[in-house]
Amino acid sequence: MRIICKDLTYSYDPKKKPAVYALNKVSLTINEGEFFGIIGQTGSGKSTLIQHLNALLPVQEGFLSVGEFDLSLKDKKKYKKQLKELRSKVGMVFQYPEYQLFAESVFDDVAFGLKNFFPNLNANEVAQRVANALNAVGLNYYEVKDKSPFDLSGGQKRRVAIAGVLVTDPEVLVLDEPVAGLDPAGKKELMALLHSLENGRRTIIIVSHDMDEVLENCSRIAVMQQGELVKIGTPEEVFNSNQSYAGLNLPVTVQVNNLLKERGINLNCNFKTEQFICDLERFFKKTTNN
Ligand SMILES: Nc1ncnc2c1ncn2[C@@H]1O[C@H](COP(=O)(O)OP(=O)(O)OP(=O)(O)O)[C@@H](O)[C@H]1O
Ligand SMILES: [Mg+2]
Repeated sequence: MRIICKDLTYSYDPKKKPAVYALNKVSLTINEGEFFGIIGQTGSGKSTLIQHLNALLPVQEGFLSVGEFDLSLKDKKKYKKQLKELRSKVGMVFQYPEYQLFAESVFDDVAFGLKNFFPNLNANEVAQRVANALNAVGLNYYEVKDKSPFDLSGGQKRRVAIAGVLVTDPEVLVLDEPVAGLDPAGKKELMALLHSLENGRRTIIIVSHDMDEVLENCSRIAVMQQGELVKIGTPEEVFNSNQSYAGLNLPVTVQVNNLLKERGINLNCNFKTEQFICDLERFFKKTTNN
């Protein structure tokens, strides 16, 4: 599902004068199948933007469509009619989702959204879907299904929460700070898990404060600043522009590349860490051989 946003504007207090906008004329398109990153300092409007995508926040001004769903419809009846289907297709994983687990068993927790969206599924179909979702997040269905979610480790809880969204097989998966609070190994594992959920069609959108993380993982990135979209493009386009972004540290490889540039060394390379190190090694081999 392609997401199209035109001049999307939102204020949490629309009556306030002068107006304070959490989103100010944001226009962007996210294509089907992209692994898309949204970055920006705290309070820049990232969560506000993504909460529009499954209509947790209503469109106040501007246009927003998610696939065939027009979320700017002024006709309230038509607007409301599409919400259930939209929400089964756009899965939202909030920051620290493990704190939202509530059911007595992992099975019940993961099945909750599914039963809500698809009340006509029989018990076998529900079990099959729950098993698929748990397996997809790297958990063994038979080992965890009867456990209390509260008896799992932090990383496992987060996987259960993601399974609870994945269970409806959403076409768009939106995750607000998915690796926040994890150690470096846990971060790597979870990002690998998110990549494993790509299937060519599913759009994955992550919100992050971490430039290195989005650089390594996303096909395109949007940078938010005080409610405005200040840059959008591939990691190379976003970081090659000599632009600095308020409150954000540039990725380490970009910082090193900038230092080298100042000394007249132009690597002309990709900023992904592994590729960057290869290019750097090649450059130094060449210069020491000369
Ligand atoms: N429920 C709310 N009521 C009033 N104002 C809000 C609410 N949620 C967010 N805001 C304000 O809207 C602006 C954008 O907030 P938002 O939560 O979208 O930022 P963010 O980029 O997600 O920040 P963070 O990185 O801290 O999560 C901020 O000024 C914030 O104070
Ligand atoms: Mg936020």
